[in-house]
Amino acid sequence: MTDVNIRNVIEQDLDRCFEIESISYSGDEAATKGKILRRINSYPEGFIVLENDREIIGFINCGATHEVELSDEDFKELVGHDSAGKHIVILSVVVHPAYQGKGMASKLMNSFIERMKALGKSDIYLICQTELIDMYARYGFVDLGASDSDHGGMSWNEMSLSLQDT
Ligand SMILES: CC(C)(COP(=O)(O)OP(=O)(O)OC[C@H]1O[C@@H](n2cnc3c(N)ncnc32)[C@H](O)[C@@H]1OP(=O)(O)O)[C@@H](O)C(=O)NCCC(=O)NCCS
Repeated sequence: MTDVNIRNVIEQDLDRCFEIESISYSGDEAATKGKILRRINSYPEGFIVLENDREIIGFINCGATHEVELSDEDFKELVGHDSAGKHIVILSVVVHPAYQGKGMASKLMNSFIERMKALGKSDIYLICQTELIDMYARYGFVDLGASDSDHGGMSWNEMSLSLQDT
């Protein structure tokens, strides 16, 4: 594969991000176009895209908050988001199926973690399905156990990564 580049999102990326989100997440799990637009406009500092010389391959987006409530569905619409918040809550980590299994999520996660450190954030939270616990553990995330969230009608685990002494 040709070289890849990671940058912050811009509004023109909306259609491609929505395409990747829709094709990669099943059913209700995928964010709507409206939700993705809100994430682009509300917190572009926390929305990174990875691209090759042709197209966007994958992305990570998030919100910032002073108080973490991972089962709060409204936060997915960034209700309660405050860019000054010290805690980061990841909303999507996604790679287009055509590019999965090639280390693209690792590139995105490593860059995302460095960017959040540079912004002075204290920690990163996420919910994930059981089979991805090991993947996130590789980046230093700690398993916090089962989540109350039933997002998309599925069961989830909560994980967090402290950025303070790394
Ligand atoms: C999960 C996802 C982002 C991984 O992207 P990717 O680019 O294929 O991941 P990478 O190639 O960087 O893999 C990183 C490591 O995680 C592991 N991994 C990747 N996907 C995995 C999966 N679905 N289950 C278990 N382990 C997985 C890989 O084996 C790899 O380990 P390795 O380096 O020892 O081979 C991608 O499969 C995806 O977009 N899935 C749909 C959306 C989704 O579920 N996102 C997660 C929301 S919590």
